[in-house]
Amino acid sequence: HGFIRRALGKRRQAGDVTARLMLDPGFVADPFPHYATLRAQGRVVDNGIVLNTAHHDLTTAILRSPDFGVVGGPSGRPPAMLRLAVAAGGDGPHGPVDPPSMLATDPPDHTRYRKLVTRAFSAKAVAALRSRTEEIAAELLDRMAARGPAADVIEDYASLLPATVIAEMLGAPVEMRRQFLHWGEGAALSLDAGLTYAQFRRSERDLAALQSWMEAHFAHLRRNPGDNILSALVHARDGEGRLSEDELISIAMLLLAAGFETTVNLIGNGVGLLTAHPDQLALLRAQPQHWARAVDEVLRIDSPVQRTGRIAHRDTEAAGERIRAGRLVVLMLGGANRDPAVFPDPDRFDVTRPNAGEHVAFSSGPHFCLGAALARMEGEVGLRALFDRFPDLTPAGPPRRRPTRVLRGYATMPVRLSPAT
Ligand code: HEM
Repeated sequence: HGFIRRALGKRRQAGDVTARLMLDPGFVADPFPHYATLRAQGRVVDNGIVLNTAHHDLTTAILRSPDFGVVGGPSGRPPAMLRLAVAAGGDGPHGPVDPPSMLATDPPDHTRYRKLVTRAFSAKAVAALRSRTEEIAAELLDRMAARGPAADVIEDYASLLPATVIAEMLGAPVEMRRQFLHWGEGAALSLDAGLTYAQFRRSERDLAALQSWMEAHFAHLRRNPGDNILSALVHARDGEGRLSEDELISIAMLLLAAGFETTVNLIGNGVGLLTAHPDQLALLRAQPQHWARAVDEVLRIDSPVQRTGRIAHRDTEAAGERIRAGRLVVLMLGGANRDPAVFPDPDRFDVTRPNAGEHVAFSSGPHFCLGAALARMEGEVGLRALFDRFPDLTPAGPPRRRPTRVLRGYATMPVRLSPAT
C-alpha cells in the first residue's frame, strides 16, 4: 500500500498526469483537463505501473474484447500490487470489487452470476418499479417542503431515493437506509488507489459492518423468505446449490452497494448541472420528452463512475494498439466520455445532444452495468420530480464534492427550494 503511494508520489512530483489522476486532490474538483492532457499524450500512456487511456474507441474495444479480463480474473486473486493499485482489497471483508464479486470474475463464473440476477433488473422489471419510485420521490419532496425553504439535495433527496428503492428490492428494512449510506461511504473509498491509512481503516471497518449486517439479513431471510431478489439468491444457494456462501455474500453486497452508491451521484450531478445551466432546464420544461436524453448527457459529462480497469490475458491488439499479456489498462470512462472524436464540443452540456447515449458511463461488454435501466429510470424520475415540485430551486452556497476518485459525486449541496420572500 505504501509502496504504491510512494511510487505514484514520485511520478506525481515529476508532473506525470497519470499519477496526478490517481493522487491529486485537485483531480476531485475537476479531472477533465487532466484527461484531455492524457488523451493528447497518446492513445495508451504507460507510467511504468499501469497503462492508461482516455480514448473512447480504445476503451470500448478493451471492454468488449475476450482477450481482456477484470482485475481478479481467472486466476482468482490478482497479484497484491495490482490489487492495491485498483482497490484496497486484502483478506478482510468483501469489497464490492474483491473476488468473487461479479466485477472481479470473468466467464464462466461471471455468466453464472449474471444469469441469476438479470431478470430482476430487466427493462420490464424496472418499468414496473417506476410508479413506486415516483411515490418515494413524492414522499421525500413532501418532507423537504415541510422543513424548507433550505435543504441539502444530497442528504435529503438524492441519496435517499435510490437507497429506498434498492432496500425495497432487496427486502431490507427501510430504517436501515441511513446506516447503509454511512457504510457506503467507506465502501466507496475501497475503490480508490493510494488511500491514506485512516481511509483504508475506515473502508475495512465499514465493509465489515455491512457484511455482518448482510449475513444476519440472510439468516432472517432463511426463516422468512419474501418476494425479493435476495430470497431468490438464498434459494439458489440453499435449494439448488448454484452458489457458494462467498458468492452469495459477494453478489448481495455488490447489489446493495451499487444500488445506492452510484445513482446518488447521477441525481446530484444532474442537479448541479441543471442549476448551473438554466437554459437547459428551461428547454426541458418546454420539451419534457428530452428528459431521458438529458439523463444520458449528465452520465456522459459528469460520469458517476470515472474509471475501471482490465488486464490483458494474452498478447493482443485493441483498436490498433498492441498490449502485452499481464498489463493492466486503466480505462478513464469519464475521459472517454469527453473524447471529441465521438462527442463534438465535449465540454458543453447539451441535453439534446443526439448521441449522448454512446457514453461508456455504464461500461460496455459483459460487465455492462446490470442496473443501467434502473439507474436511468431513477435519474429521470428523481430529477424531473424535484424540478417540477420546486421550479425555483437555487444553490444556496458552494456544494462539496465527495473525496472519492473512482466514484464522482457531491457530498453536500445546499439549496433554497423557493425564492426568499
Ligand atoms: C457494473 C456504473 C447504477 C449494479 C457497473 C459498471 C459501471 C457501472 C461503470 C461496470 C464496471 C466495469 O465494467 O468494470 C453505474 C452507474 C450507475 C449504476 C454510473 C448509476 C448512475 C447501478 C444500480 C445497480 C447497479 C442502481 C443496481 C443494483 C451493478 C452491478 C454491476 C454493475 C451488479 C456488475 C455487473 C457485472 O460485473 O456483470 N455499473 N452503475 N448499478 N452495476 Fe452499475
